[in-house]
Order: sequence, then structure tokens, then C-alpha cells
Amino acid sequence: MNALRSISMVAGGGLLAASLSACGGAGAGDLEGDTTDPMTIFDEAVGRFEQAPLAHLPTPFEEMPTLAAELGGPRLFVKRDDQTGLAFGGNKARKLDFILADAVAKGSDSVITWAGVQSNWARMTAAGSRRLGMDPILVLARREDQSVAPADGNLLLDRILGADVRIIEPGEDREAMVDEIAATEREAGRNPYVVSVGGSRTGGDMVLPLGSVAYANCFRELVAQARDAGVTITHVVHASGSGSTQAGLVVGAKMLAPDVRIIGISTGGSKAPSEANVLAIAQETVEAMGLDLEVGPSDVVVHDEYVGEGYGILNEDVVETIALTARTEGILLDPVYTGKAMTGLFDMARNGQFSDTDVVVFLHTGGTPALFPYREGLLEDLPGPTDE
Ligand SMILES: Cc1ncc(COP(=O)(O)O)c(C=O)c1O
Repeated sequence: MNALRSISMVAGGGLLAASLSACGGAGAGDLEGDTTDPMTIFDEAVGRFEQAPLAHLPTPFEEMPTLAAELGGPRLFVKRDDQTGLAFGGNKARKLDFILADAVAKGSDSVITWAGVQSNWARMTAAGSRRLGMDPILVLARREDQSVAPADGNLLLDRILGADVRIIEPGEDREAMVDEIAATEREAGRNPYVVSVGGSRTGGDMVLPLGSVAYANCFRELVAQARDAGVTITHVVHASGSGSTQAGLVVGAKMLAPDVRIIGISTGGSKAPSEANVLAIAQETVEAMGLDLEVGPSDVVVHDEYVGEGYGILNEDVVETIALTARTEGILLDPVYTGKAMTGLFDMARNGQFSDTDVVVFLHTGGTPALFPYREGLLEDLPGPTDE
């Protein structure tokens, strides 16, 4: 118990609607009462945060034997966080469990966030806000080469969900726009909840790194599943963007299975700033959870060599990866995040960076609605019938 400190966030004593519930993490039962056991300490720490039941959990944990054979080893598993439910699923559902519970606890009636036009975070924030009775306001940055009409992919889903979508043109000041929208909401007597892109960095109304706490808890779910399956995980590979998915996994691993290497594959940022960002969020998470842990630079590994020409820019390797994963395991990846992350995993496996006894888990973080707006780039390398 002495590894725990009291923390300032939490439920706000019964302020939450009956549909919200506190949750102490999956299956602490077997170790109940052992206050020195890391899992018990961890579960108590997570249990202090309120959660909204948005995500369908636990997500499946499955072996990918055909893909592993195709790559020539190691043993490969997938953690299906693309199957979290909530408007087509993805990693944001777990984060929103914590973040939107905080918004409800604070009496919010709208949720304001920002991202790119094809954002999975924006789509799932819209869905979660709707589910909990709040109005989503999405400030979405458009690249010069990106069209917003007719709406496609995530943007189409934002529209169906009735989000108030504001487009920022290249060069416009996003921060000023968010501040202005929040001020207008307040002047109208409303109580907006402002949360940063990806639910990663604290700021606005999210004062604790709740997205990262959610992914620490995902790691806890994963180790329990691996234990039940009788396997010892050695690596977790996943797409890393705004950073809280990786930060949470790093904290969970450090606490519960310190030999597991968490490998983030950057989808846009370069190595040094991405690692610094993840480390900062991880350290903030340790503090917010009141854990007696040291997380340092050696715990955070982000590879930036699979970014290609930049964030959201498709390349041939990614198309091949998407096709091979679909054709060996029937699993759909996305062109922006998981396609790039799996390309990194393939490269590392083919270059002998894992041993035959390693057990590598690919965390599938979702993003599949973006397959549709990328149809042209995908089809270029996937021949088939045409109308001509
Ligand atoms: C499908 C998908 N995978 C991975 C990520 C990266 O997660 P994080 O932003 O927590 O690093 C994102 C972020 O938007 C995403 O949409």
C-alpha cells in the first residue's frame, strides 16, 4: 500500500451518472489482499479513476500463425484493439472511457477537441460524447491536398454522428480557434470540456494523463490474457502518434512485466522528439497513478524509419503489408497507422531482430475507416477489375 499515494483526480463522489462505473481492472481476484503484489497495487491505482463503459473489453488476443510462418518467425500474436466497439473501434475507446468519464464528472455538456480531417480520435470522441449526452465539436486541420467534400472515411462518420465540424485551413491558428469556440460556448451558458488531440497531453480540461492511464490498463489486460494462454510476451509493437498509447504501455510494462520491450513505430514524428514526448507522458502517468516507479529514456523506443514521406502518406511497402496481413490472417490494417506499424514489424522480423523464442504482440490500434479515402493509392498496387 505504501507504493500508492493519494491522487487528486477521481470520481467527484457520485457526480457521475448511473451509467458510469468505477473499475478496478480485469481480474484482480486471485491476488486480492496482497498489498505488495504489483498487480494488486496497479489495480488499486487504476481503480481510483472513474471510467465510462464505452469500450468493449477485453479485446481479443489471438495468435497469427500463418503470418508468422510467412515471415519465418518469431511467434506472433495480435491484440485486437481495433475491436473496441464505439463507431468502428480503435485505441481511442479505452482512452475515452477515462476522459469522457472525467468530462461527465465535471458537468460538461460539450466536448471540444482537434485533429486532422481523417482523425480516428475525432470520430470516436464524437461517438463517445454522443453516447454520454454531450455535444462533440471537432476542429479538424485540412492539408492542402485533402478534400472535405464529399465527406469520406472518418469525416463521413463525424457527420453521421452529428458533430459540429470546423475545418482549419493550412496556416490558420488552431489554438486561437479552439479558445474562441470554448469562449463562445461559455458565453452561451454551456460548460465545454477541452481535450487535446489523441487525449495524450494534459492541458485544457484534462488535468491528468487519462489516455495514458487507459493504456497502462490495456497492458494489464494483455498480460492477464498472455498468462491465461500460457505465453510469455517479449515485445509489443504498435503505432505511435500523439504518444499516450505508448506511454501507458511503457508504464504498464515497467510495473507488471519489466522484461517486455514496448516498440513504438512512429507514423509521422521523428525519433528524438517522439521519444521525449512519450517519456514525458509516461512520467506524468506514474505520478498521476501514484506508482513507485522510475521510467527513464531507456524504457522508450520509437522507430521513425517507417514513416516514409510523412504522416498520412501511403507508400508501396504499406500497401504490401496491408495486403499480406489481410491475405494471411484476414485482418484489415489501416493506411495511416497500423499499416506503417506492421511494416516496421515485418522489417524487424525479416532482418532477424527477433529470436525464434520471442513472442511478439502486434497491438492493432484500429483506424480502418481511413481505408476508404485511401482507395486510389491502395488500388494502384492491388490490380482487379475496372469499368473500362
Ligand atoms: C489507428 C491509430 N493507431 C495509433 C494511433 C497512435 O496512438 P497515440 O496517438 O496514442 O500515439 C492513432 C492516433 O490517432 C490511431 O488513430
